[in-house]
Amino acid sequence: MTKPLSGKTIILGISGGIAAYKAATLCSRLAGLGASVRVIMTEGATKFITPLTLQTISRHPVATDVFDERDASIVQHIDWADAADLVVVAPATANILSKMANGLADDMLSTTLLAVTAPVLVAPAMNVHMWEHPAVIDNVNKLASRGVTFVEPGTGQLACGYVGKGRLAEPDEIAEAVAAMLAGPKPLAGRRVLITAGGTLERIDPVRYITNDSSGKMGFAFAEAARDWGADVTLVYGKTDGVPPEGIQAVRVESAEQMKDAVMSRAAEADIVIKSAAVADYRPLHQEEHKMKKKSDTLTLELVRNPDILQTIGEWREKQAGKRVPVVIGFAAETMELERNALDKLARKKCDYIVANNVTQAGAGFGTDTNIVSIYGTGGFAEHLPRMPKKAVAQRVLELAAAKIGTERA
Ligand code: CTP
Repeated sequence: MTKPLSGKTIILGISGGIAAYKAATLCSRLAGLGASVRVIMTEGATKFITPLTLQTISRHPVATDVFDERDASIVQHIDWADAADLVVVAPATANILSKMANGLADDMLSTTLLAVTAPVLVAPAMNVHMWEHPAVIDNVNKLASRGVTFVEPGTGQLACGYVGKGRLAEPDEIAEAVAAMLAGPKPLAGRRVLITAGGTLERIDPVRYITNDSSGKMGFAFAEAARDWGADVTLVYGKTDGVPPEGIQAVRVESAEQMKDAVMSRAAEADIVIKSAAVADYRPLHQEEHKMKKKSDTLTLELVRNPDILQTIGEWREKQAGKRVPVVIGFAAETMELERNALDKLARKKCDYIVANNVTQAGAGFGTDTNIVSIYGTGGFAEHLPRMPKKAVAQRVLELAAAKIGTERA
């Protein structure tokens, strides 16, 4: 399950205001969204909340002293600064704003902030008159002009007794701002992507079936990549090793015929169709209602052809003259003559691109986290990708598909 901030390292800088206690909730939210959170507290912050609280929530040691170098192999403030995808200072006091604006480096937080090249988000909290002081306004403007992002304080009852602007924004609001800053581009926003994944399962009797080695990983990687790029994703999946990613519509099917129905009933609404499922070409002619009993020494299973879903989409698409139709991506899992077989499938199944891989190659094919593919497209397009994570393969294919939406097809 991928969370929105999975793989991201965030430095949470806590300075010494009463709202420091709310930083514990923020830390918990960021960790809950999948981020690895490194907490730096000023000396003032430790008067309001203990480093142990933040250490327990973040599951990492909390840094408070720039000279407390525990690991001789690194310089901690530089190491943390380099590792950070984002720094969030919450709460930010008037003092830390002033230090940031003027480039002071007299403690762990201010020193790390100077060493950071990642984006910085600041959530100030202070008395309303302090917030309105020209010195603070100048510092905020200076930081904003340097690209620092602010989550403005809220208005309400302040700890000092005043009612006005100065309350730390709610931890959820700050966490949302962090997620938005790290979200990246959304090239598929407003697009519908229909993906098939896994292997189909063709029943012989209630307990026996024919299937294949597909793990579903390639299709799941497509679903994740398309979702991350803002698409509305429907994943029609058969037998897989894993659990479909979150944040998509997952439709479980079993046989090729079920998969065909699930796909064809949704194809007209899709902008992109990705057919990464390994569909069984044949199914048993008869599915026994009861578990088969052994009788003779040999048994012959009679199989009949399954519908070719990709070809069905290709042919359906050809008949939609003038109507909006999806970009269609097929796959070719081969053990020999990759290019010839892929080009044959591209033409026969009438798709825009075929993503071909040699499933016998190490680091490619079923069950692995990486793939080595060649992409063939109409008009002689050919691109050979090196071994890369399945999600990176998916991103490249989605890039090509996105570029093709709305263009005329051969
Ligand atoms: N495919 C499909 N329906 C089928 C068989 C395959 O939609 N009944 C799709 C797969 O999802 C994939 C592409 O066709 O996108 C190629 O699948 P592959 O198994 O490599 O090809 P086959 O059609 O089985 O061709 P061949 O038997 O010639 O290898």
